[in-house]
Amino acid sequence: MTADRRSLTRLAHERLSEVLGEGDWAIDATAGNGHDTLFLARAVGPSGRLAAFDIQEEAIANTHQRLAQEGLPARVVLHQAGHERMAEQLGPGWRGRAAAVTFNLGYLPGGDHAKTTLPMTTLAALDQALALLRAGGLLSVIAYRGHPGGKAEADAVTAWFERHAETLKTEIVESPGPVLLLGRKK
Ligand SMILES: C[S@@+](CC[C@H](N)C(=O)[O-])C[C@H]1O[C@@H](n2cnc3c(N)ncnc32)[C@H](O)[C@@H]1O
Repeated sequence: MTADRRSLTRLAHERLSEVLGEGDWAIDATAGNGHDTLFLARAVGPSGRLAAFDIQEEAIANTHQRLAQEGLPARVVLHQAGHERMAEQLGPGWRGRAAAVTFNLGYLPGGDHAKTTLPMTTLAALDQALALLRAGGLLSVIAYRGHPGGKAEADAVTAWFERHAETLKTEIVESPGPVLLLGRKK
């Protein structure tokens, strides 16, 4: 993890802490190694609801293990499914309910670097995340530009945020490496 990545992750978590509280509902759209899932699980507390998605069995296993180490697996429903299917997987009861949806794009650290998030499915998932967010809820996306296809995906996500300026109050934090995009639903 580079310093940039660490500091953007810390800033994203600070912003998420401002909107998340005990009993809230939240979604981790890219579970990976479970760092963000664990953060969200603690933030929503025992009465909260948390769903996490990843296409890779390895990521789901790593996330489950991280939650188990902290005694929190019961608090999270893990979906081995693409985030572009989150609305279908979660069902209509989640519409307008999520206090936060997080995306940490790219590949699984320590895993297969060829298995990355992709612009088309990422944008489809962002559309769904927006519908699942409640008013005042926060959408957080960290996009990396160092791997093949990463810059194109970061540009596509930035353009998506720009297209949704009427619905989202957006903050974009640039770094020489990744970019953090935050959108608070109006
Ligand atoms: C940078 S990692 C996520 C890191 C994670 N948030 C953490 O805290 O460890 C990106 C993850 O996105 C996953 N991914 C790729 N395409 C996906 C998709 N369509 N839906 C959900 N996850 C996907 C990858 O398998 C990988 O585990």
